[in-house]
Amino acid sequence: MDTIIVTLSREALPRSGGGEEERTPYPEVLARAGEILRLGGLVAFPTETVYGLGGNALDKEAARKIYAAKGRPSDNPLIVHIADREELDGLVSEVPPMADRLMEAFWPGPMTLILKKKPVIPDETTGGLRTVAVRMPSDPVAAALIRAAKVPIAAPSANLSGRPSPTRAEHVIEDMRGRIEMILDGGPVGIGLESTIIDCTGEEPVILRPGYVSREMLEELFDRVSVDPASVGPTGEGEHPKAPGMKYRHYAPEAALTLFEGESRAVTERIRARVAEDVRNGRRVGIIAADETKTDYPEGIVRSIGSRRNVETVAHNLFAVLREFDDLGVEAIYSESFSPEGIGQAVRNRLTKASGYRIVRVDGPSTYPAE
Ligand code: TXA
Ligand code: MG
Repeated sequence: MDTIIVTLSREALPRSGGGEEERTPYPEVLARAGEILRLGGLVAFPTETVYGLGGNALDKEAARKIYAAKGRPSDNPLIVHIADREELDGLVSEVPPMADRLMEAFWPGPMTLILKKKPVIPDETTGGLRTVAVRMPSDPVAAALIRAAKVPIAAPSANLSGRPSPTRAEHVIEDMRGRIEMILDGGPVGIGLESTIIDCTGEEPVILRPGYVSREMLEELFDRVSVDPASVGPTGEGEHPKAPGMKYRHYAPEAALTLFEGESRAVTERIRARVAEDVRNGRRVGIIAADETKTDYPEGIVRSIGSRRNVETVAHNLFAVLREFDDLGVEAIYSESFSPEGIGQAVRNRLTKASGYRIVRVDGPSTYPAE
Protein backbone atom coordinates (compact mmCIF):
# COMPACT_ATOMS: atom_id res chain seq x y z
CA MET A 1 0.00 0.00 0.00
CA ASP A 2 1.09 3.60 -0.58
CA THR A 3 1.78 5.36 2.70
CA ILE A 4 0.87 9.05 2.87
CA ILE A 5 3.62 10.95 4.73
CA VAL A 6 2.85 14.47 6.02
CA THR A 7 4.95 16.87 8.09
CA LEU A 8 3.20 18.91 10.80
CA SER A 9 4.68 21.52 13.12
CA ARG A 10 3.76 20.87 16.74
CA GLU A 11 4.31 24.54 17.59
CA ALA A 12 1.37 25.47 15.36
CA LEU A 13 -1.07 23.21 17.23
CA PRO A 14 -2.89 23.80 20.54
CA ARG A 15 -1.82 21.86 23.67
CA SER A 16 -3.75 18.79 24.75
CA GLY A 17 -5.91 18.59 27.86
CA GLY A 18 -7.26 22.11 27.38
CA GLY A 19 -10.59 21.19 25.80
CA GLU A 20 -11.60 21.50 22.15
CA GLU A 21 -10.09 24.46 20.28
CA GLU A 22 -12.21 26.33 17.76
CA ARG A 23 -9.66 26.60 14.99
CA THR A 24 -6.91 24.09 14.39
CA PRO A 25 -4.28 24.32 11.67
CA TYR A 26 -3.96 21.53 9.08
CA PRO A 27 -7.74 20.94 8.85
CA GLU A 28 -7.48 18.84 5.64
CA VAL A 29 -4.65 16.61 6.86
CA LEU A 30 -6.27 16.01 10.23
CA ALA A 31 -9.68 15.35 8.68
CA ARG A 32 -8.10 12.79 6.35
CA ALA A 33 -6.16 11.13 9.20
CA GLY A 34 -9.27 11.03 11.37
CA GLU A 35 -11.25 9.45 8.57
CA ILE A 36 -8.59 6.79 7.96
CA LEU A 37 -8.77 5.87 11.66
CA ARG A 38 -12.57 5.80 11.78
CA LEU A 39 -12.60 3.54 8.70
CA GLY A 40 -10.29 1.06 10.45
CA GLY A 41 -6.95 2.15 8.95
CA LEU A 42 -3.65 2.91 10.70
CA VAL A 43 -1.88 6.27 11.22
CA ALA A 44 1.52 6.65 12.91
CA PHE A 45 1.99 9.82 14.95
CA PRO A 46 4.46 11.48 17.31
CA THR A 47 3.97 11.59 21.07
CA GLU A 48 6.30 13.16 23.65
CA THR A 49 7.72 9.69 24.46
CA VAL A 50 8.09 7.77 21.18
CA TYR A 51 6.13 7.54 17.91
CA GLY A 52 2.90 5.52 18.11
CA LEU A 53 1.15 3.30 15.56
CA GLY A 54 -2.51 4.27 15.92
CA GLY A 55 -5.78 2.53 15.17
CA ASN A 56 -9.36 2.86 16.46
CA ALA A 57 -9.25 1.36 19.99
CA LEU A 58 -12.90 0.31 19.78
CA ASP A 59 -12.46 -1.64 16.53
CA LYS A 60 -11.11 -5.17 16.88
CA GLU A 61 -10.14 -5.35 13.21
CA ALA A 62 -7.97 -2.25 13.65
CA ALA A 63 -6.24 -3.93 16.60
CA ARG A 64 -5.54 -7.00 14.43
CA LYS A 65 -4.07 -4.76 11.73
CA ILE A 66 -1.77 -3.13 14.30
CA TYR A 67 -0.39 -6.50 15.37
CA ALA A 68 0.08 -7.53 11.75
CA ALA A 69 1.87 -4.28 10.78
CA LYS A 70 4.28 -4.63 13.71
CA GLY A 71 4.72 -8.38 13.39
CA ARG A 72 3.83 -8.56 17.09
CA PRO A 73 2.18 -11.33 19.12
CA SER A 74 -1.47 -10.45 19.71
CA ASP A 75 -1.43 -11.29 23.43
CA ASN A 76 0.55 -8.10 24.03
CA PRO A 77 -2.05 -5.45 24.95
CA LEU A 78 -2.17 -1.94 23.48
CA ILE A 79 -2.24 1.47 25.19
CA VAL A 80 -5.41 3.51 24.54
CA HIS A 81 -4.73 7.22 23.92
CA ILE A 82 -7.24 9.97 24.72
CA ALA A 83 -7.09 13.77 24.33
CA ASP A 84 -9.38 14.90 27.16
CA ARG A 85 -10.12 13.64 30.68
CA GLU A 86 -13.87 13.29 29.96
CA GLU A 87 -13.21 10.46 27.49
CA LEU A 88 -11.91 8.25 30.28
CA ASP A 89 -15.30 7.58 31.89
CA GLY A 90 -16.58 5.90 28.73
CA LEU A 91 -13.64 3.46 28.74
CA VAL A 92 -13.12 2.36 32.36
CA SER A 93 -15.55 1.06 34.99
CA GLU A 94 -13.87 2.72 37.96
CA VAL A 95 -11.47 5.62 38.59
CA PRO A 96 -9.92 5.08 42.04
CA PRO A 97 -8.73 8.17 43.97
CA MET A 98 -5.08 7.21 43.35
CA ALA A 99 -5.69 7.43 39.59
CA ASP A 100 -7.28 10.87 39.99
CA ARG A 101 -4.21 12.12 41.86
CA LEU A 102 -1.88 10.73 39.23
CA MET A 103 -3.85 12.26 36.35
CA GLU A 104 -3.98 15.59 38.15
CA ALA A 105 -0.19 15.53 38.53
CA PHE A 106 1.01 14.02 35.25
CA TRP A 107 -1.63 14.27 32.48
CA PRO A 108 -1.32 15.20 29.75
CA GLY A 109 2.09 13.56 29.81
CA PRO A 110 4.30 10.45 29.68
CA MET A 111 2.25 8.28 32.06
CA THR A 112 -0.06 5.32 31.34
CA LEU A 113 -2.57 4.05 33.91
CA ILE A 114 -3.90 0.49 34.16
CA LEU A 115 -7.60 0.57 35.10
CA LYS A 116 -10.58 -1.82 34.94
CA LYS A 117 -12.04 -1.70 31.43
CA LYS A 118 -15.62 -1.30 30.25
CA PRO A 119 -16.96 -3.84 27.72
CA VAL A 120 -16.76 -1.29 24.83
CA ILE A 121 -13.05 -2.01 24.60
CA PRO A 122 -12.62 -5.21 22.61
CA ASP A 123 -10.47 -8.10 23.84
CA GLU A 124 -8.25 -7.62 20.79
CA THR A 125 -7.14 -4.23 22.14
CA THR A 126 -6.34 -5.51 25.65
CA GLY A 127 -4.98 -8.92 24.70
CA GLY A 128 -7.92 -10.50 26.54
CA LEU A 129 -7.20 -8.70 29.85
CA ARG A 130 -10.00 -7.20 31.96
CA THR A 131 -7.93 -4.10 32.48
CA VAL A 132 -6.96 -1.40 29.97
CA ALA A 133 -3.91 0.85 29.70
CA VAL A 134 -4.87 4.53 29.12
CA ARG A 135 -2.69 7.53 28.43
CA MET A 136 -3.25 11.20 27.55
CA PRO A 137 -0.19 12.31 25.57
CA SER A 138 0.91 15.94 25.78
CA ASP A 139 2.20 16.14 22.20
CA PRO A 140 -0.09 18.56 20.30
CA VAL A 141 0.06 16.48 17.09
CA ALA A 142 -1.14 13.43 19.03
CA ALA A 143 -3.93 15.43 20.68
CA ALA A 144 -5.06 16.93 17.36
CA LEU A 145 -5.13 13.48 15.74
CA ILE A 146 -7.16 11.90 18.59
CA ARG A 147 -9.66 14.77 18.46
CA ALA A 148 -9.92 14.54 14.68
CA ALA A 149 -10.58 10.79 14.90
CA LYS A 150 -13.34 11.29 17.51
CA VAL A 151 -12.50 7.83 18.86
CA PRO A 152 -9.84 6.71 21.36
CA ILE A 153 -6.65 5.58 19.63
CA ALA A 154 -4.92 2.30 20.45
CA ALA A 155 -1.20 2.70 19.80
CA PRO A 156 1.88 0.65 20.50
CA SER A 157 5.27 2.11 19.64
CA ALA A 158 5.51 2.41 15.83
CA ASN A 159 8.47 0.03 15.37
CA LEU A 160 8.59 -3.45 13.91
CA SER A 161 8.47 -5.93 16.79
CA GLY A 162 11.94 -6.43 18.30
CA ARG A 163 13.40 -3.16 16.96
CA PRO A 164 14.08 -0.13 19.17
CA SER A 165 11.11 2.24 19.52
CA PRO A 166 11.09 5.11 16.99
CA THR A 167 12.05 8.55 18.25
CA ARG A 168 12.13 10.24 14.81
CA ALA A 169 9.80 10.09 11.83
CA GLU A 170 12.62 8.56 9.74
CA HIS A 171 12.60 5.52 12.06
CA VAL A 172 8.86 5.10 11.51
CA ILE A 173 9.25 5.46 7.75
CA GLU A 174 12.00 2.82 7.81
CA ASP A 175 9.81 0.31 9.66
CA MET A 176 6.25 1.13 8.53
CA ARG A 177 6.31 2.57 4.99
CA GLY A 178 4.09 0.40 2.78
CA ARG A 179 2.49 -1.30 5.80
CA ILE A 180 0.11 1.48 7.01
CA GLU A 181 -2.06 4.23 5.49
CA MET A 182 -0.41 7.36 6.89
CA ILE A 183 2.57 8.71 8.85
CA LEU A 184 2.43 12.11 10.58
CA ASP A 185 5.94 13.55 10.91
CA GLY A 186 6.12 15.92 13.89
CA GLY A 187 9.92 15.93 14.13
CA PRO A 188 12.03 14.28 16.84
CA VAL A 189 10.24 13.40 20.10
CA GLY A 190 11.12 15.11 23.39
CA ILE A 191 11.66 12.30 25.89
CA GLY A 192 12.75 9.31 23.82
CA LEU A 193 11.67 6.44 26.13
CA GLU A 194 8.16 4.99 26.46
CA SER A 195 5.71 6.16 29.14
CA THR A 196 5.76 5.06 32.77
CA ILE A 197 3.07 2.38 33.24
CA ILE A 198 1.33 2.41 36.63
CA ASP A 199 -1.14 -0.23 37.77
CA CYS A 200 -3.99 1.46 39.66
CA THR A 201 -6.13 -1.63 40.27
CA GLY A 202 -4.72 -2.49 43.71
CA GLU A 203 -4.19 -0.78 47.07
CA GLU A 204 -1.18 1.25 46.01
CA PRO A 205 0.37 2.37 42.72
CA VAL A 206 2.65 -0.26 41.15
CA ILE A 207 5.19 0.75 38.50
CA LEU A 208 5.06 -1.89 35.75
CA ARG A 209 7.42 -0.08 33.36
CA PRO A 210 9.71 2.80 34.41
CA GLY A 211 9.68 6.01 32.35
CA TYR A 212 10.06 9.76 32.67
CA VAL A 213 7.55 9.86 35.55
CA SER A 214 9.90 8.30 38.09
CA ARG A 215 9.51 6.42 41.34
CA GLU A 216 10.90 9.47 43.15
CA MET A 217 8.16 11.65 41.64
CA LEU A 218 5.47 9.18 42.74
CA GLU A 219 6.89 9.02 46.25
CA GLU A 220 6.20 12.73 46.60
CA LEU A 221 2.49 11.95 46.19
CA PHE A 222 2.05 8.56 47.90
CA ASP A 223 3.31 6.94 51.10
CA ARG A 224 3.75 3.62 49.37
CA VAL A 225 4.80 2.95 45.81
CA SER A 226 5.76 -0.50 44.57
CA VAL A 227 7.72 -1.64 41.58
CA ASP A 228 6.92 -4.80 39.60
CA PRO A 229 10.07 -6.98 39.87
CA ALA A 230 9.85 -7.66 36.12
CA SER A 231 10.80 -4.02 35.48
CA VAL A 232 14.14 -4.32 37.29
CA GLY A 233 15.40 -7.81 36.46
CA PRO A 234 14.79 -10.94 34.41
CA THR A 235 11.63 -12.93 35.15
CA GLY A 236 12.32 -16.41 36.48
CA GLU A 237 10.78 -19.70 35.45
CA GLY A 238 7.01 -19.58 36.07
CA GLU A 239 6.97 -15.84 36.89
CA HIS A 240 4.85 -13.44 34.83
CA PRO A 241 5.38 -9.70 34.51
CA LYS A 242 2.15 -7.74 35.04
CA ALA A 243 2.73 -5.77 31.83
CA PRO A 244 2.75 -8.67 29.35
CA GLY A 245 5.02 -6.72 26.97
CA MET A 246 7.83 -6.76 29.52
CA LYS A 247 8.40 -10.47 28.94
CA TYR A 248 9.67 -9.97 25.41
CA ARG A 249 13.26 -9.14 24.62
CA HIS A 250 12.21 -5.67 23.60
CA TYR A 251 14.24 -2.75 22.36
CA ALA A 252 16.67 -5.20 20.90
CA PRO A 253 19.41 -4.09 18.55
CA GLU A 254 20.56 -6.75 16.08
CA ALA A 255 24.04 -7.00 17.62
CA ALA A 256 24.53 -8.58 21.06
CA LEU A 257 24.73 -5.78 23.62
CA THR A 258 26.80 -6.12 26.79
CA LEU A 259 26.31 -3.64 29.61
CA PHE A 260 29.28 -2.82 31.85
CA GLU A 261 28.59 -1.58 35.38
CA GLY A 262 30.93 -0.26 38.05
CA GLU A 263 33.29 2.62 38.65
CA SER A 264 33.53 4.74 35.49
CA ARG A 265 37.28 4.46 34.85
CA ALA A 266 37.32 0.71 35.43
CA VAL A 267 34.37 0.33 33.02
CA THR A 268 36.15 2.32 30.30
CA GLU A 269 39.28 0.24 30.72
CA ARG A 270 37.40 -3.06 30.56
CA ILE A 271 35.45 -2.02 27.44
CA ARG A 272 38.68 -0.85 25.79
CA ALA A 273 40.24 -4.27 26.36
CA ARG A 274 37.20 -6.10 24.93
CA VAL A 275 37.13 -3.84 21.88
CA ALA A 276 40.84 -4.33 21.24
CA GLU A 277 40.38 -8.10 21.26
CA ASP A 278 37.35 -7.94 18.94
CA VAL A 279 39.09 -5.60 16.53
CA ARG A 280 42.08 -7.97 16.42
CA ASN A 281 39.65 -10.71 15.45
CA GLY A 282 38.24 -8.57 12.65
CA ARG A 283 34.89 -7.81 14.32
CA ARG A 284 32.98 -4.58 13.86
CA VAL A 285 32.01 -3.21 17.27
CA GLY A 286 30.04 -0.26 18.64
CA ILE A 287 30.57 1.52 21.94
CA ILE A 288 27.89 3.43 23.85
CA ALA A 289 29.74 6.11 25.78
CA ALA A 290 28.93 9.48 27.37
CA ASP A 291 30.12 13.00 26.48
CA GLU A 292 32.57 12.69 29.38
CA THR A 293 34.16 9.44 28.12
CA LYS A 294 33.74 9.37 24.34
CA THR A 295 37.35 10.35 23.66
CA ASP A 296 38.69 7.53 25.86
CA TYR A 297 38.25 4.86 23.16
CA PRO A 298 40.89 4.64 20.44
CA GLU A 299 39.14 1.80 18.55
CA GLY A 300 35.58 0.77 17.62
CA ILE A 301 32.67 2.94 16.52
CA VAL A 302 32.07 5.28 19.46
CA ARG A 303 28.79 7.13 20.05
CA SER A 304 28.07 9.40 22.97
CA ILE A 305 24.43 9.15 23.97
CA GLY A 306 24.52 12.21 26.18
CA SER A 307 25.96 13.71 29.31
CA ARG A 308 26.25 11.94 32.67
CA ARG A 309 25.35 15.26 34.22
CA ASN A 310 21.97 15.19 32.44
CA VAL A 311 20.56 11.69 32.11
CA GLU A 312 17.56 13.08 30.18
CA THR A 313 19.89 13.53 27.21
CA VAL A 314 20.83 9.85 27.51
CA ALA A 315 17.14 8.84 27.48
CA HIS A 316 16.60 11.05 24.45
CA ASN A 317 19.36 9.48 22.31
CA LEU A 318 19.44 5.81 23.36
CA PHE A 319 17.06 4.29 20.79
CA ALA A 320 18.43 6.35 17.88
CA VAL A 321 21.97 5.15 18.67
CA LEU A 322 20.83 1.50 18.85
CA ARG A 323 19.21 1.90 15.43
CA GLU A 324 22.32 3.55 14.03
CA PHE A 325 24.44 0.60 15.19
CA ASP A 326 21.99 -1.76 13.42
CA ASP A 327 22.34 0.30 10.23
CA LEU A 328 26.13 0.23 10.51
CA GLY A 329 26.03 -3.56 10.84
CA VAL A 330 28.05 -3.79 14.06
CA GLU A 331 28.40 -7.32 15.45
CA ALA A 332 28.70 -6.41 19.13
CA ILE A 333 27.80 -3.38 21.24
CA TYR A 334 29.48 -2.53 24.54
CA SER A 335 27.72 0.00 26.72
CA GLU A 336 28.70 2.03 29.73
CA SER A 337 26.00 2.33 32.41
CA PHE A 338 24.30 5.45 33.76
CA SER A 339 23.02 6.66 37.12
CA PRO A 340 19.71 4.94 37.99
CA GLU A 341 18.19 8.07 39.57
CA GLY A 342 14.94 9.52 38.17
CA ILE A 343 14.59 8.73 34.46
CA GLY A 344 17.91 6.86 34.82
CA GLN A 345 15.82 3.95 36.14
CA ALA A 346 14.05 3.80 32.77
CA VAL A 347 17.35 4.06 30.88
CA ARG A 348 18.71 1.15 32.93
CA ASN A 349 15.55 -0.89 32.31
CA ARG A 350 15.81 -0.43 28.50
CA LEU A 351 19.56 -1.08 28.43
CA THR A 352 19.38 -4.24 30.55
CA LYS A 353 16.51 -5.55 28.42
CA ALA A 354 18.34 -4.72 25.19
CA SER A 355 21.29 -6.68 26.57
CA GLY A 356 19.13 -9.67 27.43
CA TYR A 357 20.59 -9.14 30.95
CA ARG A 358 24.14 -9.70 29.75
CA ILE A 359 25.74 -7.51 32.40
CA VAL A 360 29.41 -7.36 33.38
CA ARG A 361 30.13 -5.95 36.84
CA VAL A 362 33.73 -4.82 36.60
CA ASP A 363 34.18 -4.94 40.37
CA GLY A 364 32.04 -7.97 41.24
CA PRO A 365 30.27 -11.05 39.87
CA SER A 366 28.83 -10.76 36.35
CA THR A 367 25.61 -12.19 35.00
CA TYR A 368 25.21 -13.87 31.67
CA PRO A 369 21.87 -15.19 30.47
CA ALA A 370 21.71 -18.85 29.49
CA GLU A 371 22.47 -19.07 25.77
O1 TXA B 1 5.02 5.92 25.54
C1 TXA B 1 4.28 4.97 25.26
O2 TXA B 1 3.67 4.33 26.14
C2 TXA B 1 4.17 4.57 23.78
C3 TXA B 1 3.45 5.71 23.06
C4 TXA B 1 3.15 5.38 21.63
O3 TXA B 1 2.30 6.07 23.76
N1 TXA B 1 3.47 3.32 23.62
C5 TXA B 1 4.03 2.13 23.94
O4 TXA B 1 3.25 1.03 23.64
O5 TXA B 1 5.12 2.02 24.46
P1 TXA B 1 3.81 -0.45 23.58
O6 TXA B 1 2.70 -1.24 22.97
O7 TXA B 1 5.10 -0.51 22.92
O8 TXA B 1 3.90 -0.87 25.09
C6 TXA B 1 2.72 -1.08 25.83
C7 TXA B 1 3.04 -1.76 27.14
C8 TXA B 1 3.35 -3.24 26.97
O9 TXA B 1 4.44 -3.60 27.82
C9 TXA B 1 2.05 -3.88 27.47
O10 TXA B 1 2.24 -5.16 27.97
C10 TXA B 1 1.58 -2.90 28.54
O11 TXA B 1 1.88 -1.66 27.97
N2 TXA B 1 0.13 -2.97 28.78
C11 TXA B 1 -0.85 -2.60 27.94
N3 TXA B 1 -2.07 -2.87 28.48
C12 TXA B 1 -1.83 -3.40 29.69
C13 TXA B 1 -2.69 -3.88 30.75
N4 TXA B 1 -4.01 -3.86 30.65
N5 TXA B 1 -2.09 -4.37 31.87
C14 TXA B 1 -0.74 -4.37 31.98
N6 TXA B 1 0.11 -3.93 31.01
C15 TXA B 1 -0.44 -3.46 29.89
MG1 MG C 1 6.95 -1.03 22.16
